[in-house]
Amino acid sequence: MKKLLAFTAILSLVLIVFSALAQTDQKAPAPPQGQSKETQQQAPAAEQQKMEQPPARQIPGINADDKFPNACVDCHINYTDMNMDTRFSTLMQQWQTKVDERLMDKIKGAAPDGLKLTGKHPTVPKSAFQNIPKSCGNCHGKTSKKAPPAARMTHLIHLTGGDENHFMTLFQGQCTYCHKLDEKTGEWKIPSGPEKS
Ligand code: HEC
Ligand code: HEC
Ligand code: HEC
Repeated sequence: MKKLLAFTAILSLVLIVFSALAQTDQKAPAPPQGQSKETQQQAPAAEQQKMEQPPARQIPGINADDKFPNACVDCHINYTDMNMDTRFSTLMQQWQTKVDERLMDKIKGAAPDGLKLTGKHPTVPKSAFQNIPKSCGNCHGKTSKKAPPAARMTHLIHLTGGDENHFMTLFQGQCTYCHKLDEKTGEWKIPSGPEKS
């Protein structure tokens, strides 16, 4: 009777050990088909990660076509097919009469301290439209006290408002439609030029 008990105990112990061994064996990942365990171990981790990387994001002017190489004046044109004139000389005529409330709301945060915007643009010489945005910079300079600085005003206009903003939807809020990278020097530049007739 004692012998039988001891035998059963040993047998169950052996069974437990075996089933445990079988389980650890199952947990070990099987090498993928057509690839021996050896080559899998040799492939460096970085190489394997690289294969899973997505392709580079398409950025106009960086690794994709840029339809607006001259920035402002290439986009603010007269879209005759849509009956929509977005040229600066046309916009300026409106601003000199009365600035749209929607635009005023957007840009008020860009006004320099102490300046209260009137919602009426001062007259600018015709020659200003021959060099945009450089000529605007005469009054809309970075440290201007008399007009909203160009960068702050332009960013608020084009980049805020989400789906309500046509620059965000139609043009995907692309920085590089205005900012152009000089691939040799690493500098960012905003080209300036005459508006199109
Ligand atoms: C790729 C196209 C594109 C480029 C480049 C661009 N804009 Fe615009 N701009 C737009 C769109 C679209 C709007 C209308 C945004 C909205 O829905 O309110 C706009 C609006 C404006 C407005 C407000 C017009 C108004 O009366 O409400 C000003 C001012 C303006 N842009 C100036 C500039 C300046 C200055 C530059 C260059 C530094 C520039 N834009 C470059 C597309 C462009
Ligand atoms: C002679 C100086 C001067 C020049 C040049 C100038 N601006 Fe302005 N701009 C101002 C002043 C001052 C204001 C503030 C007007 C106000 O009180 O609302 C202003 C405001 C604006 C506004 C906000 C709307 C408004 O009238 O308040 C826009 C948009 C604007 N300017 C665009 C331009 C663009 C684009 C150019 C270049 C084509 C330009 N400006 C050139 C002086 C100038
Ligand atoms: C519609 C044209 C336009 C777009 C789009 C635009 N910028 Fe700008 N940005 C400007 C202008 C104009 C300036 C002023 C350049 C100057 O003063 O010489 C400027 C200047 C800047 C500066 C210099 C610091 C400052 O505020 O003066 C930074 C940083 C900048 N932009 C970042 C961005 C980023 C990031 C995006 C995209 C998310 C972007 N911009 C999109 C027109 C634009």
